[in-house]
Amino acid sequence: MLIRNVVILGGSGFVGRHLARVLAERGIEVTVPSRNRERAKEQLIVLPTVNVVDANIHADGVLEALVAGADAVVNLVGILHESRRGDFDRVHAELPQRVVAACQRAGVERLVHMSALCADAQAPSRYLRSRAQGEASVMRAHASGAVTATAFRPSVIFGQGDSFLGLFARMLRFMPIVPLGSPGAKFQPVWVDDVARAFADALGDPASFGQRYELCGPKVYTLRELVELAGKASGYRRRIVGLGKTMSYLQALAMEFSPLTVLTRDNLRSMSVDNVCGCGWPEIFAFKPSVLEAISPTYLMASTRRYDIFRARARR
Ligand SMILES: NC(=O)c1ccc[n+]([C@@H]2O[C@H](COP(=O)([O-])OP(=O)(O)OC[C@H]3O[C@@H](n4cnc5c(N)ncnc54)[C@H](OP(=O)(O)O)[C@@H]3O)[C@@H](O)[C@H]2O)c1
Repeated sequence: MLIRNVVILGGSGFVGRHLARVLAERGIEVTVPSRNRERAKEQLIVLPTVNVVDANIHADGVLEALVAGADAVVNLVGILHESRRGDFDRVHAELPQRVVAACQRAGVERLVHMSALCADAQAPSRYLRSRAQGEASVMRAHASGAVTATAFRPSVIFGQGDSFLGLFARMLRFMPIVPLGSPGAKFQPVWVDDVARAFADALGDPASFGQRYELCGPKVYTLRELVELAGKASGYRRRIVGLGKTMSYLQALAMEFSPLTVLTRDNLRSMSVDNVCGCGWPEIFAFKPSVLEAISPTYLMASTRRYDIFRARARR
């Protein structure tokens, strides 16, 4: 299938920015709607074939107008925390249905959908259950012939600009001791460039139509190991104190009331399931996923040092 122009919903985020770059490198025209065009433009404006537009994709008729004329739509919209009860359902379960309907009405055949590893109707967290609903409705739409869909289910994604290792590294800068909830939770992190490449390769490849792909890196880590690794890569090695179940719960509860929500009780419930792939890297993608230790120092050191420079300039 020939793909010349793509609309990336959620394209202003961490994964979206990397995907937009990979598509631009392939000469594909990209449209990225955002609720905050000025902020989104900062990162995307340098890419030659990328157009950022102001759009509220929840408003009536906006999605349909946005996707009209596109060869494909990629839906990356997602949230980790709810500002209001019901946000997970609106964003992860209802929006994908509205995207399918908009594609159908506008005559867009191809839809690539971002889900999450461990998304399941019986999962312990509302995040994972809402993800399962969205993924299921997209794959049902494929089965009924409404769209030609592919779904991706990655473990946690790392890379330049991530809110995972990058966040740990920035926090370690200010914390002499780290009280860590759910230290034994397991992840199999995958590099954002590998995720972006898999999405880009799948877009026009008929072999990926109707498929769901789990995306994981080559190695499984505990949360404790990942925080240690972020400390090593950023140059801020700290003592980590693993919290038991009750203290992890209380920590997450306390964080829900802080202005900067890093972790919620729902996130803890997601972490009670091992976030690891049951199979290897999908053979359809003709490359192997990168190793975390090879990539993380290249961006973590730079991101934490940038903070030091800002602080030095501000004489703090
Ligand atoms: N990062 C990971 O480790 C990871 C792992 C597995 C799955 N995923 C999934 O992959 C996708 C991309 O992740 P990411 O890390 O790039 O996320 P991100 O940086 O937080 O970006 C999320 C994007 O979604 C848009 N968005 C969020 N809430 C919205 C809403 N209510 N209405 C409209 N747009 C909204 C934002 O657009 P605006 O410009 O309008 O704010 C932003 O572009 C998400 O679905 C995420 O759940 C991520």
